[in-house]
Amino acid sequence: MLPQISKITELKENSSTATLFDSLDQLSIYELTEGENAHLQKQLEKETECVIRKYPILLFYGKTKDAKEDYLKVENARKAGSKLYNALKAINASSVQIRNFSKSELMAAFIEGLLLTGYVFDKYKKEKEEFQIKEIFIFDKKTSNQQLQEIKNTIQAVYFCRDLVNEPLSYLTAPQLSKEIETLSKESGFSLEVFNKQKIEALKMGGLLAVNKGSIDPPTFNILEWKPENSTNKKPIILVGKGIVYDTGGLSLKPTPKSMDYMKSDMGGAAVVATTLFAVAKNKLPVHVIGLIPATDNRPDGNAYVPGDIITMFDGTTVEVKNTDAEGRLILADALSYAKKYDPELVIDVATLTGAAEIVAGNQACVGMGNSKEHLQKIKETGEETYERIIEVPLWEEYAKPLKSPIADLNNLGRREGQTTVAGKFLEHFTDYNWIHLDIAGVAFLFEKDVYKPVGGTGYGTRLLYNFLKKINY
Ligand code: BES
Ligand code: MN
Ligand code: ZN
Repeated sequence: MLPQISKITELKENSSTATLFDSLDQLSIYELTEGENAHLQKQLEKETECVIRKYPILLFYGKTKDAKEDYLKVENARKAGSKLYNALKAINASSVQIRNFSKSELMAAFIEGLLLTGYVFDKYKKEKEEFQIKEIFIFDKKTSNQQLQEIKNTIQAVYFCRDLVNEPLSYLTAPQLSKEIETLSKESGFSLEVFNKQKIEALKMGGLLAVNKGSIDPPTFNILEWKPENSTNKKPIILVGKGIVYDTGGLSLKPTPKSMDYMKSDMGGAAVVATTLFAVAKNKLPVHVIGLIPATDNRPDGNAYVPGDIITMFDGTTVEVKNTDAEGRLILADALSYAKKYDPELVIDVATLTGAAEIVAGNQACVGMGNSKEHLQKIKETGEETYERIIEVPLWEEYAKPLKSPIADLNNLGRREGQTTVAGKFLEHFTDYNWIHLDIAGVAFLFEKDVYKPVGGTGYGTRLLYNFLKKINY
């Protein structure tokens, strides 16, 4: 649950107070003692630091001024917000007032870091987390109510994204994912159409159907749309999300430790797309966006698809299945071909596609590629601003070679070496428009907490896409 956030025009006495500042003289009002000043100076020479008096708390933040790049200042403010959360938790303070002497942009990031750190997923725990920040009071003329509401909506979207990733298959089957998306649509105002198995068969989405063959649950194909009257783009932006609600690898079965054991997160791309639409609709962005989410689990069964099968995709391309664990590209390909009918301005797909993406970027960035320099440039910039960064790799033609097949148009495996790009080349085959592919395999799910990103689903991608769409102006 997110706290209440409201503006105040007078500071309350005897209440925990955090102060965001970027120069020491802004603190003269506090009449710090010499000892406190010396202590503060010392801390500021180190990293972002907070100094806390017993009561009320004073959280001083000073590193923003020295950071070389603007986006690093912003990220430092997020990290400071995260520290504030920890400080409040340590003294069990459920409310805080924040006083800002810094820019409103940094204040926004500070609140973001505070809220992002407060996430817990305890739905399945008997003993619930007790600590919660209930109220945040903002003492800052520069930050408007509208800005605060926008932050709250966006972080709410990130929370939902994390929830979806954290839900196991025992709850989150493909049909259940559609129900969750329906709830998001009702709460925010985007529209939703769900194709059931019959419709998917009628459309001959051969990739999605092949992956679903081993499942006891039917697949779904979800179409989300936000089309406000004041949208600035004539042609829609389309977001495509990989919705593998569980990836066992299929008959090309995955090993369990640090592999199959967390494959409930293989719908991370779908979660990003659904919750980005939530944020866009909640904040009423003037942009026409469509989300496409093909969803199923991938598992072995008597009728599961097998290596050697040749399947016919939605667009008629035939694919020789060489490995049933390369399933994401099969369901995404059908969605990417389906996107053509909208004559899109740009299509962005988001997917936990290859383990190699984590080898490339660790947990610090996703891997991006695409055919439109301008759009890539813009989204990489947004990546730095939101600190959901993108490492770009080129889509050189040679990477498509291993995808040839002697008996079909393509094979789905390619080769191990350069796999992230090879998978990208597979997807590219199904596009004929401006297109960006984001492989979030290394960042969607964490085994260790990373500042304001929790263990489990991180929500990585939702802030990135939301802020990217906010900048669209065609
Ligand atoms: N869902 C996995 C990729 C993945 C790995 C996501 C680790 C998150 C963390 C994907 O479907 C997969 O199995 N990819 C294979 C492709 C290979 C068989 C060509 C991989 O990366 O090994
Ligand atoms: Mn797989
Ligand atoms: Zn997968």
